[in-house]
Amino acid sequence: MTTGTKTTRIKEIARLRAQVKQWRIAGESIAFVPTMGNLHAGHLQLVSAAKAQADRVIVSIFVNPTQFGESEDFSSYPRTLDADIEKLESLAVDIAFVPINEEIYPTRAMTEVSISQIADNYCGAARPGHFNGVATVVSKLFNIVQPDYAFFGEKDFQQLAVIRVMVADLNTPVEIISVPTFREADGLAMSSRNGRLTEQQRKQAVKLYQSLSLAKQAVLAKQCAYTEIERQFIQLLTAQGFKPDYFSICRRHDLQAATLDDKHIIILLAARLGKTRLIDNIQLDI
Ligand code: PAJ
Repeated sequence: MTTGTKTTRIKEIARLRAQVKQWRIAGESIAFVPTMGNLHAGHLQLVSAAKAQADRVIVSIFVNPTQFGESEDFSSYPRTLDADIEKLESLAVDIAFVPINEEIYPTRAMTEVSISQIADNYCGAARPGHFNGVATVVSKLFNIVQPDYAFFGEKDFQQLAVIRVMVADLNTPVEIISVPTFREADGLAMSSRNGRLTEQQRKQAVKLYQSLSLAKQAVLAKQCAYTEIERQFIQLLTAQGFKPDYFSICRRHDLQAATLDDKHIIILLAARLGKTRLIDNIQLDI
């Protein structure tokens, strides 16, 4: 990896492919970090891990319209391209791939990547069509970039699981590497949506991670059925002013409801605070 070089901003697929081809001929390995921009320290953890893994790093910044529902925040999603590129430059990222919408979706597409089961519940249920949008754009980006490695955050754990299934099912020649959730000092998972919170909501938001930590203790103590723990925490978050979508104790490998026999657990949660929808999770091994 060459450090201190300028990050090249590329909008066109053809130009990106030409550069990647040159690196391939030189025998260099390529790591890829797909993002929707508004980069924060959580994204930059992925970039640092990518830099440590491969000779070249490509970060895409594309707010993908097809993964937003009609009533969701696509048009108001924060776009901060110049600040983002500065951050990538400070980490000596080789390429920022910043396509316009028409480059990714030049015509009305007839093909969609659709993933069942693992994408059905939780965010899949709360946001119909969301994971098809994610899987389709990530699949397209993989075909465009053709990286050796691609990095995803564990904060969006169901997304990570969906991508792993997609890559396995479609024999996509890329290694998926996950990076632990990066948090604010008080425990709130970093997210582009945190900037939407009022000062009061920002203070309250920490209760999400606190509730996950408490639920983890409850699971480890095995004092009652998991469904009962879920019910109690949904009640608690509701009493604290959240509108929870789900609070679910799951098996980590397939995200089905966990039983007392399962050893590798993840607790997933999504809740609305005012207009902002936040997600988080915590892992535990019994
Ligand atoms: P975005 O929300 O921009 O996130 C890009 C990547 O950063 C995802 O893999 C996400 O899990 C990771 N990430 C976000 N916050 C993080 C945190 N606090 N700690 C660690 N990783 C974090 O996820 C998307 O974009 C899109 O769905 C995308 C995959 C780019 C497809 O459009």
